[in-house]
Amino acid sequence: MIIRPRVQRLILSRIIKASLLILALWTTLEVLSIRRALTLEASKPPPPFGNQKIFIASLHWTDERVLREYWVPAVRQLAQDIGRDNVFVSVFESGSLDDTKGALRDLDDQLTELGIDHKVVLDETTHLDEVTHPRDASNKGWIQMPTTKSYRQDWTDWFELQKDSWVPRRIPYLARLRNQVMEPLASQRIKGITYDKILWLNDVVFTTADVQTLLATRDGDYAAACALDFKQAPRFYDSFATRDAQGHAPLTDTWPFFRSAVSRDALMQGQPVPVSSCWNGMVAFDAAPFYHSRSSGLTFRGIPDGLARKHVEASECCLVHADNPLSAEKGVWVNPDVRVGYNGTAYEAVNHAGVWPSAYAIAMGVWRNRMLRWLRLARAPVDWVVEARLRDWGRVDSANVEPGAFCLIDEMQVLLWNGWGHA
Ligand SMILES: *[C@@H]1O[C@H](CO)[C@@H](O)[C@H](O)[C@H]1NC(C)=O
Repeated sequence: MIIRPRVQRLILSRIIKASLLILALWTTLEVLSIRRALTLEASKPPPPFGNQKIFIASLHWTDERVLREYWVPAVRQLAQDIGRDNVFVSVFESGSLDDTKGALRDLDDQLTELGIDHKVVLDETTHLDEVTHPRDASNKGWIQMPTTKSYRQDWTDWFELQKDSWVPRRIPYLARLRNQVMEPLASQRIKGITYDKILWLNDVVFTTADVQTLLATRDGDYAAACALDFKQAPRFYDSFATRDAQGHAPLTDTWPFFRSAVSRDALMQGQPVPVSSCWNGMVAFDAAPFYHSRSSGLTFRGIPDGLARKHVEASECCLVHADNPLSAEKGVWVNPDVRVGYNGTAYEAVNHAGVWPSAYAIAMGVWRNRMLRWLRLARAPVDWVVEARLRDWGRVDSANVEPGAFCLIDEMQVLLWNGWGHA
């Protein structure tokens, strides 16, 4: 039997129309089911703090505006809501280029007035001091510029760093300061006061209810639980420290973010998302691993200088999960019901627009994620580059082992007198 071309075209067009219809129906059902799950989760009221003891930790540099507008009042409120018998606030700031010290001095005064245990360190050491500080003979935490490069920030003139000149690495510097923020944990313990949870806060907009929801993730059963953070909503911010259940960096910076099916499925059901690492503006840790004796207790660190010299870097906020013995046992989780912003606009965009994300964002998100995985664009070539460098480094010496391999990225980050930059 011969099918005439006209009839052929007709059949083809019907098949295409039917496929599109099925696709539209499928997407609609999928979006409805995801929205239903998210609505259900979002409607649960934040659980009370109960009687757990919480150690709040925070590190600051040049963030006066968000501190004065949001953060200082929010921390003051949070500490009051937890209750002064159950909270300690540890804050460290150094060398800010605005009046961050003034904003934190206000917090210091307010906490003193309220009788809340705290330690606010306003250190006079500047970034300029750090970059001009004489190195010790080991050069630990320093690296040589691989090429000559010019830098500036919006408000400074260009300046140049010569090839082979020594510069401090950004991450070991941050790790050192974070460990300083944690120090009152030990001094409080000597007084007989120990804490159940460590809550690290970035300079973000958040509420007490956000912290309550975060702490109650999986009924408190976790090595660590993180928020989601947004600087320019709806784009997720902290891809440097976030790794999904399979150790992959986020596939997209918009919902549903993850490449791993396990992580993505949990997110779509509004459940805590199992990940290998996260930080995201606000993270709660089970305090126990930080308490072990000084030598074996959990601390913040950077990757070894020898590995960093190969032009790879990793966030101290990711490595801490890789090093945490509790991560394997209790897991690291992102709680998608807790969303913080780096300013009021970002916070509002992800918290006060009804159920988040919108039906449209869900439909676009699931398909974008699917297409990226189907077209095999999920695994960036950068992963292979980093793996090869890690292998090279590992071959040189059997002691060259990095447990946080999933944290590595193809970057070299250095401290500058006016901030930080890529080398
Ligand atoms: C918040 O931050 C974003 C991104 O940096 C910026 O575009 C926006 O104008 C900021 N909003 C306010 C109120 O400062």
